Amino acid sequence: MPPTPITLTVAADQPGPQISRHLFGQFAEHLGSCVYDGLWVGEDSSIPNIRGLRRDAVEALRAIRMPNIRWPGGCFADAYHWRNGIGPRDRRPRMRNDTWGQIETNAFGTHEFLDLCALTGATPVICGNLGSGTVQEMRDWVEYLNAPTGTVLADERAANGHAEPYGVRYWGVGNESWGCGGLMRAEYYADEFRRYATYLGNYEKSHLFRIATGPGLDDYHWTEVMMRECSAPRFNPGIMDGLSLHYYMNGGVPPAKTQRTLHATEFGIAEWRTVMAHAWYIDELITRHSAIMDRHDPAKRVKLIVDEWGTWYAAPPAPARSTLCQQQTLRDALVSALTFHAFFKHAERVHMANAAQVCNVLHSVLLTEGPVTIRTPNWHAFHLFASHQDAHRLPVSGDIPQLEDDGLTYPRLSAAASRAADGTITATLAHTDPTEPVAIALKLTGVPATSRASARILAAGNLNDHNTPETPNRVAARDWHDFKFTDGTLTTTLPPASVAAIAFKP
Ligand code: AHR
Repeated sequence: MPPTPITLTVAADQPGPQISRHLFGQFAEHLGSCVYDGLWVGEDSSIPNIRGLRRDAVEALRAIRMPNIRWPGGCFADAYHWRNGIGPRDRRPRMRNDTWGQIETNAFGTHEFLDLCALTGATPVICGNLGSGTVQEMRDWVEYLNAPTGTVLADERAANGHAEPYGVRYWGVGNESWGCGGLMRAEYYADEFRRYATYLGNYEKSHLFRIATGPGLDDYHWTEVMMRECSAPRFNPGIMDGLSLHYYMNGGVPPAKTQRTLHATEFGIAEWRTVMAHAWYIDELITRHSAIMDRHDPAKRVKLIVDEWGTWYAAPPAPARSTLCQQQTLRDALVSALTFHAFFKHAERVHMANAAQVCNVLHSVLLTEGPVTIRTPNWHAFHLFASHQDAHRLPVSGDIPQLEDDGLTYPRLSAAASRAADGTITATLAHTDPTEPVAIALKLTGVPATSRASARILAAGNLNDHNTPETPNRVAARDWHDFKFTDGTLTTTLPPASVAAIAFKP
């Protein structure tokens, strides 16, 4: 007898909050070969490029509609001095990147980053240096970027090739100030944030959205202090617009547990399940940090910005090609799908997120090798989810079996749905079980009887399959016709370990 299907109902006529497109953002740090060799190859490179930026990478990022990109770090941000990265490239200082132990040529600086944003259509997110910089240095960078010509700094920007103000809006005031950003206490950082943020100017085209360093993982004290001290100070109640959260899935949480030695490609069923459970743990983190934020800010004015997330595996037995470079498998695509679903669940509070990192570092959508740019399984997850961008979340109800691993629960099947401005309904399904298929009945209420369904699916022959220059499409999404859609109900069987996106057109 076929197994009883999991029945889900999507209330297509009950649109909820908007799923911000910024939840699908990326992060680029001067770390390993993320920026240099990855995104930036230089104008004289034999690798096809647009003004020094790797052409294939630009195209691949446009294809997933990358909405924003955060730069220059990460830990590097609190060691970065922006003036080193402007002006003629051949005169920029060559120096040590002490954060990641490599040479920094400064060839990729402010203008190159903003050119990447312009070419990909992404909104820039800049993280300023609070750890080793000064208030003056940070406020000058904002003026250089955003002031109309007529001031010394804005005229210098014009002389460097960009007369128009860049209109940068999203601004991080330091990074991980509890760690690499200065080892500060929340109480101390709260005052520093207020001081720095006070002097960052608003200009005609850009009312700054100031993002404070938030908690790492489950540091609920940090969130409490930041919300108490910065969400509404008396003389500038709006000074903090966002509070960040960083969470890397490495199998090492809850913190009482020792960090695991999970590997990117060498794993079996047991490690698959552990990763699913630890990926879904982000839902608990967001829930608990949001509850603290709700007490101080019930109107949800201050947004939670998950500006670093992704998988972080133990170093492979053979040294990685460059620092923190790791392969991506279908398992990482599932991590992304679960993480997106957690973000959607909290769409009223979570406004932006940045996968760490875009290229050649940790949870990448792209890996490069010489002239080759590989779209990872994770790239396919971002591609499958792109139509949720700026759509309105729809309620999905059903009885979903919960699984357990390592003391953490996670759903056997995770589902989300949204309605776009043109009426298209997208449902995404993340099937976390690696061994058994799952039968599904997905019922849509409130859709026209004439609606048509189409679907794409991401699955793999073997769980640890991955894409290489020789086999760039071993794990890739494909059209999927294995379903029936009649009387508003879609029935199908999803293969084990898969991510599917179904579009219902009115
Ligand atoms: O993404 C790698 C590093 O992880 C970032 O530089 C830092 O912010 C985090 O600890």
